Amino acid sequence: MTGAERLATAARALLAGFDQPELAPFLDEWPAAGAAQRMVEPRPLPVLRWLDQATPAAATRPLVDQVVAAAGALAWGQTYAAGDLGERFLERYGWSELIGLRGPIASDRLACGVLLLGPEIEYPPHSHAAEEIYLPLAGTADWLRGRDGWRRRCPGELIHHPSGVAHAMRTDEQPLLALYLWRGGDLAQKSKLGGSDDPA
Ligand SMILES: [Fe+2]
Repeated sequence: MTGAERLATAARALLAGFDQPELAPFLDEWPAAGAAQRMVEPRPLPVLRWLDQATPAAATRPLVDQVVAAAGALAWGQTYAAGDLGERFLERYGWSELIGLRGPIASDRLACGVLLLGPEIEYPPHSHAAEEIYLPLAGTADWLRGRDGWRRRCPGELIHHPSGVAHAMRTDEQPLLALYLWRGGDLAQKSKLGGSDDPA
């Protein structure tokens, strides 16, 4: 089993412990064992300096430990350029796709990966066509969803973003590591900054 497969298997096992109905269609799209694999060149990012600094929940600690151990072999990417959100944001933001159109496990039905934000940063409101599930793994942060307003979210708390609904995250002294899932829509879409067309 490759490192990416071990991480994806651990993520799938963690998600299996939740019974929220919103999660079911994502798990239905999970690639079968033996799905096509891609070679991915390791690519670090400055944000990795904070990877092991956020506090996990008891339930998420095993996956966090695996992400920390595997991080150096993963390809970390950024959707935005300095012209979008500034250099400071790019120093404190990155993600690595495990499953999807670009990640080491190929799927055109589901994207799954991890997002890392450094401390004292806001990922401003953005939206995309894909429906999304987030599971914060380490670090308590403030999350915004549509008209719900900002809410403090702890590791282990599942968050669902319907298609097109704007969402944002804001860290304070702790970084944030979160697992994300996308389904439906363009799985490689660049999120639209500034909010949703229909801010439900
Ligand atoms: Fe999103």
